[in-house]
Parts: sequence; structure tokens; C-alpha cells
Amino acid sequence: MEAGAELEVILTDAAQQFVGQQTLSAIAGRPVHTNLFDGLSPSPHTDLARWAEIIVVAPATANFLARAAIGGGSDLLSATLLASRAPRLFAPAMHTEMWEQPATRRNTAQLLADGVYLVGPVEGALTSGDHGTGRMVEPDEIISEVIRILGPGDMDGLTVLVTAGGTREPIDPVRYIGNRSSGKMGNAIALDAARRGARVRLVTSVGAPDHENISVVTVESAQEMAEAAWASLEGLDVAVMAAAVADFRPGKTSEAKIDRSSGPPTLAMEPTPDVLAGVAERSPETYLVGFAAEVGSLDRAIDKAKRKKVDLLVANDVSRPDSGFGTDTNQVMLVTPDGQQDVWPTLSKAEVAHRLWDTVLERR
Ligand code: PMT
Repeated sequence: MEAGAELEVILTDAAQQFVGQQTLSAIAGRPVHTNLFDGLSPSPHTDLARWAEIIVVAPATANFLARAAIGGGSDLLSATLLASRAPRLFAPAMHTEMWEQPATRRNTAQLLADGVYLVGPVEGALTSGDHGTGRMVEPDEIISEVIRILGPGDMDGLTVLVTAGGTREPIDPVRYIGNRSSGKMGNAIALDAARRGARVRLVTSVGAPDHENISVVTVESAQEMAEAAWASLEGLDVAVMAAAVADFRPGKTSEAKIDRSSGPPTLAMEPTPDVLAGVAERSPETYLVGFAAEVGSLDRAIDKAKRKKVDLLVANDVSRPDSGFGTDTNQVMLVTPDGQQDVWPTLSKAEVAHRLWDTVLERR
């Protein structure tokens, strides 16, 4: 409120064991909400959900994270979260053992994959005189995170292209050559840009995030991705090529399903179009960010950054369990064509996306 925000407060049953309604009403200067069926509004959860620009849950208990991860909606808080399209920020607080439980790890991974932002917990004093990881971050840090997520609108007026997902190159009507990309990295990049005010053209082979600033073209093969990407270059400020695009495809696609009885076929391969190179050639004024999927060492990425005519290359080691295909986290190294390198720690893909846009805005 001191920072100028308008506030509505929901108190869960458990929260009321710790703080009274009167206390929070007095601080907020308005009644607090406690009940899905209070009789005052026919639909308090949808009213609150549509009104909020962001929903913060602090502290978020292990029980709450579990409910949110499965999409439960039996109380006012979880129903409001379910009914809202606003960004959600949770500040977990619990004992170390609860935070480290495989179930809680699974739930937080699911929430991150669903686009929820988490802040903390940190190490420090816990209840009952215990000490460890599980302490809620300080309120100032939650507020900084809210400001960061809502964004200064620092991408207003920018138009960006993002490619996401993996391409599929047909062998016959049934089979294809594909790769393991889930689209999580590209989707996170698209969503962050949209939330910061950019108009996003997302060319993808998988499901896309739902945001009014994102327009989606769904494709399957490298050829289709190239055509869609190259058709969206008009007035394009930045392109981020996070898709895993096939480099080769079968030279001929069989129109009939290849029959087992005819024995194993020999596939003669041909190169696919290089989507990224086509963007660089057709739209030299666009700030171009490439990705590099490497296995083991990221050294090859340094050479790739020079060869690929990009302004920035994001290299990730896809053989690591916390990085690359299908994971909710990524460990990346940023490389510029002049050989500057910046190694980032393992972060959620949402965080990688946010920092990547910060870097692009700084450098372009
Ligand atoms: O989708 P996720 O499961 O979240 O996984 C994320 C990711 C691992 C797919 C992503 O982080 C990533 O690394 N994307 C690039 C994968 C890739 O194709 O890397 P590459 O080194 O083969 O290609 C280099 C660059 O050229 C990439 O920007 C790629 O999009 C582009 N390219 C490649 C081939 C081609 N024919 N056309 C292209 O535009």
C-alpha cells in the first residue's frame, strides 16, 4: 500500500490461527475475505480473480503448494487462483524437512512449470527454535519481486518473434523424426516478453501460453517453421530462436505407411532450411538471439556464436539433468560473437527468460 498498490486480502482458515481478521482489516483499511460462501457476493473468487493484477501467497505452506499444484479450488484462496489469469507469486515457508520432501519438490516443480513464480525460501530461524532452509524471504524482497514481475512495461512498443518446441520431419503418414524439446524454454521467453508489454509472435510446434499479447502460429516441420518465421519479420525488433529445429529430414516422404513386411527402409536425408540464418539474412536490423543445444562442454557454442551471425547466443548443456530438454530449470551460458561469456547458475526457465530479456534490452 505504501508503494501505491490497491490491496485485497484473503485469509485462509489456517492463517486465522496465526492472525486475526480484525488485525489485517485494520491494516488493509478494508474488510478481509475469508469465505467462498460468505453470501455477500455471488462469486467472490471470480470477482477477486478478475480484479487482481497479481496474486501473492505469503506465506505459502507445504499444504497450500500441494493444493495449488493439483489445481484444487475448495477454499476462497485456491478458487481465486484457479479463476485468475494474473501472475501468481508464492513465498514458501515451512520446516526444512517439509521443503525437502520429494512431494514438495514435485509440487514446486509442477508450479514452476505452470508459470508460477516462487521467491525463497531462505535459510534462517524457523519456528520452535529450529534453523535451516524454509524461512520465508523478508517482505521487502516479496515486494521487489512483485514489481519485477509486473514489470515496468519496459518492452512496450517492441515486437518480438520467439520460436519454441521441436520440429517433426515426416517419414510417412505415421512416423516422423523429432527431438525432445517440450517448448518450455521458448514459452517462458514468449510469456515474459508479453507480460512486459511486447507484442509477441510465437512460432511453435507445441501448446502456447495464453496471453493477449501473444499471437501463435503452430507448425510441425522445419520447413513450416521457416516459412512462418520468415513471414513475420515485418517491423520485428528482436527474434529469439529457442526452438530445436531438425537439421536434416528424409528426402522423400512416403505417402503410404511403410509396411514392416517390406523390411527396414533406407532413409536418404537432405538438409532443412536454417530458420535462424534466414532471419539474419532477411532482417539484418532485427536483434537476433540464437540458442545452442550442446552435449557436455559448451566450448563449441563460442564458435557457433561467431558462425551463426547472431547478436547473442544462449548455450545450454542438454545432457545435464537440470538443464535443456523438458526440464523446468536451465543452466545457460551467454556468448557474444566477440567471445564474451557469461555463465548463469541453474535457474527456473521463467527466471532465465526474464534475465535474458533484461540482457537483450541492455545490449540492443
Ligand atoms: O523446449 P525445452 O524442452 O524447454 O528445451 C529447451 C531447448 C533445449 C530446446 C532450448 O534451450 C535450446 O537449446 N534450443 C535450441 C536447440 C537447437 O536446435 O540448437 P542447435 O544448436 O541445433 O541450433 C542452433 C540455433 O539454430 C538454434 O537457435 C536453433 O533454433 C537454430 N536452428 C537450427 C537448425 C535449423 N535448421 N534452423 C534453425 O533456426
